[in-house]
Amino acid sequence: MTHLAHLARFDLTGRTALVTGAGRGLGFEIARALAEAGAHVWLNGRDAGRLEGRVEVLAGEGLSAAAAPFDVTDHAAAARWFEMAHSAPDILVNNATLRDRRPTPELSPEDVDRLVAVNATAAYALTRLAVPGMIRSGGGVVLNIASIAGPLAGGGDPGYTLAKGALTALTRSHAVEFAAQGIRVNAIAPGFFATEANEAWVGNATVGDYLATRSPMRRWGRSEEIAAAAVFLCAPGASYVTGHVLTVDGGMSVKM
Ligand SMILES: NC(=O)c1ccc[n+]([C@@H]2O[C@H](COP(=O)([O-])OP(=O)(O)OC[C@H]3O[C@@H](n4cnc5c(N)ncnc54)[C@H](OP(=O)(O)O)[C@@H]3O)[C@@H](O)[C@H]2O)c1
Repeated sequence: MTHLAHLARFDLTGRTALVTGAGRGLGFEIARALAEAGAHVWLNGRDAGRLEGRVEVLAGEGLSAAAAPFDVTDHAAAARWFEMAHSAPDILVNNATLRDRRPTPELSPEDVDRLVAVNATAAYALTRLAVPGMIRSGGGVVLNIASIAGPLAGGGDPGYTLAKGALTALTRSHAVEFAAQGIRVNAIAPGFFATEANEAWVGNATVGDYLATRSPMRRWGRSEEIAAAAVFLCAPGASYVTGHVLTVDGGMSVKM
């Protein structure tokens, strides 16, 4: 096999991908990267107008994209979308998130349920909807966007840590359950990324000091730095990789 043949195994031409929470941030960059690799991408989120704007941006770059507006916690709406899409996506990226940084005394069990619903149960439900179509077409890929907050705890952030820990565990469980049917299930655990969601923190001196001492690279991740990791895990080039959590955190989680 020449090196060019290896590169061809990262070509996604002819594949389709549904990326949840793709109207901004890491979800948008992942969708863009999958489209640049040749896939047709459906951008999911709750704001149809924002998604149409993002579809136009990708179309302007010569990429193939369409909007898929629905709330990932509305399981009936998700089921209707899968019925309407006719062919299930070959690639499902569970990226949508809800964030709530309150500590335990302030975070009710109902608040935790809401965090789990968006970050973990929705991934379970969408995977369940996608799997039959993937099996019919001979296989597929699920990519869950977890967090270094799955294995690591910052303290005072129990709900998100619980939800991302659940998503990481689900990644292992689904990887084992569906491997024999040609479906690979992996996760990416991002570290600190300077997305719109973190805008207020990016210029914050305390967070800056924390990163400077805690992170070997001493800086925030840029959204586009998630892209190649997603393409790798979604492409045939990763055909023997399943149940893996690929950490993209500038080395933060391996530093003593
Ligand atoms: N940024 C970081 O530093 C970081 C670190 C670790 C892990 N992560 C993970 O990486 C992923 C992307 O992070 P991000 O910073 O790009 O997040 P973000 O900017 O907050 O984007 C989240 C997206 O999810 C969508 N969304 C929220 N609730 C939804 C629902 N019920 N149904 C459908 N879509 C929904 C939002 O769109 P609408 O509001 O328009 O629906 C939004 O586009 C997340 O899973 C996050 O937990 C991020």
